[in-house]
Formats: sequence, C-alpha cells, structure tokens
Amino acid sequence: MTGIYVFSGTGNTLKCAAALRDALAELGAEAVLHEVKDGSEKAAEDDLVLCYPVYGFNAPLPMLRFCRGLEAGRGGRVWFLKTSGEPLRLNDNSSAELTRILRKKGFDIRGEFGYIMPYDIIFRHTDEAASLMWETAKRRIPAAAKAIAAGEGTLPAPGAAAKLMSVICRIEHGFYPVNGRLFRVDKSKCLRCMKCVESCPEGNIRYVNGRFKFGGRCVCCTRCAFGCPADAIHIGVIDFMRVNGPYDFTRDPQKAEPIKYCRKAYERYFSEQ
Ligand SMILES: Cc1cc2nc3c(=O)[nH]c(=O)nc-3n(C[C@H](O)[C@H](O)[C@H](O)COP(=O)(O)O)c2cc1C
Repeated sequence: MTGIYVFSGTGNTLKCAAALRDALAELGAEAVLHEVKDGSEKAAEDDLVLCYPVYGFNAPLPMLRFCRGLEAGRGGRVWFLKTSGEPLRLNDNSSAELTRILRKKGFDIRGEFGYIMPYDIIFRHTDEAASLMWETAKRRIPAAAKAIAAGEGTLPAPGAAAKLMSVICRIEHGFYPVNGRLFRVDKSKCLRCMKCVESCPEGNIRYVNGRFKFGGRCVCCTRCAFGCPADAIHIGVIDFMRVNGPYDFTRDPQKAEPIKYCRKAYERYFSEQ
C-alpha cells in the first residue's frame, strides 16, 4: 500500500497527486491519498509519495513539518511529486531538506517527479497555458506511476545555482509568517462567505467581532487570496504578485500562446515525453 501525502495550496499539486493515485490503481497498485494541512498528520503506509508545490525553490513548511514528524527507524521507500510554476533547473534542489530529514530517519529516497502547473503567485498564466500544463502533466504521470509500482525512480542532480538559490530563499520561508500578519481583507468587497477562514490549512484566519484576524502561522500558500470569490484579500508586501481565481483547465491547449518568460524552458518541457 502506498500513501500519497499532499500539501497543496491552490489545488495544482492535489490534481497531479490524484492523477498519480488513479494511474497507480490502473496498474493494480493500491494507493491512498491523504491531504497534509499543517504537517502534524501521521503516516501509516510503508511506501510514501510526498507531494508539494515548490515555494521559493524549497518545499513548503507543512511538508517539512510532516517529514520531521515521521517516525525514525521504521524504514520505507519515499518518492517526491512536486509542482512548480517554472520549468527551471533552479527548482532542482527543492527536496534537499526533506531528503536530509528522511535519510536521517532511515527512509530510502527513490525518486522525484516534477510537473509544471500554473502560477498561483507572481503572475497569472492564461487558461490555455494552464490547460497545456495540465495535459502535459496527465501525459507524464503514468510513467511516474510505473516507476513507483516497480520501486524505481531517479533524483535530480541539482547544480550549484539551484543549491545556492534554495539556501538563499530559505530566508523567504521565515518571511511568510511575518508577511502573513500584514494580510488584510477589503471590507467593501468581502462577501463574508468565510471561505478563507474555513479553508486556511494552518487555521490562521479568524473572524472575530466583525473583523478578520490573520495570525502568525501563514505559510504563504495563497489559498485564501487565490480562492476568494470577491478577490478581497490583500497579501501583505507581496500583494503586487497576487493571483486570484481558479484556472479553467478545460480550454484548448493548442491555443496556448508561447509563454514569454522562460520560453525555451517551457517549450522543452511541453515537448518532452
Ligand atoms: C509562496 C510561493 C512561492 C513559490 N515559489 C516558486 C518557485 O520558487 N519556483 C516555482 O517554479 N514556482 C513557485 N511557486 C509556484 C507554485 O509552485 C506553483 O504554482 C504550484 O503549482 C502551486 O501548487 P498548489 O496549487 O498545489 O499550491 C510559488 C508559489 C507560491 C505561492
């Protein structure tokens, strides 16, 4: 039995993880999908697939907490499934800290699979580009399932730049809870639907006496602002990077315009088998 543990801020990683579970089922390999919220969850299965979105060239804090909480010495094989907005090799070192923690506990790290999915911060991809990303991920995920079912996989060999970026950007992770306290709700837009309060994986948003309160546990998953039906949530000093509203993954991927930023890297990724 394989346990697929997913932290997903805005749903991209969850989509890929569910596709992996289905691809494993097609191969007759049983897998159960569990959502990781704040990382305090426990894992019972021997084989684990840990799924996360890349944040600042690293794994998000809830996934780090989850790995720190795993029992040492029980053994087991681990694969990573990650999603990222950029098809850059700079993301290659994102599992390094998870790997270090897990190896110390005696886990056998077998491989990593990475899929490009649309940005939930920085800028908005077009729906056609998002559809192309999703179609590409769906095309590639069965190969990951095959590798996992066979107990195989490969790990990226991060270059010096990727290592440097991930070390530098760990500072960014310390900034998230500080910035999270600066989140605010535009009352003139807010529908009081409480979606942000109910969906925050960290339980960091409260509504008290008619006011929204953002605590100190923000991991910058952007779920609150991305999922706000009124686009009423400002995300602190990085508000200029806010992306709001779900992507429509059903658009015609053939109509996706070339992505201007990192164009060659995206093209290479989309054309690879
Ligand atoms: C705080 C934050 C930092 C991010 N940093 C990176 C990054 O370093 N590299 C990258 O390619 N994408 C980055 N992204 C984009 C996400 O990895 C990407 O959109 C991912 O698919 C989101 O997955 P989710 O919907 O499961 O949360 C970042 C997103 C957020 C919210």
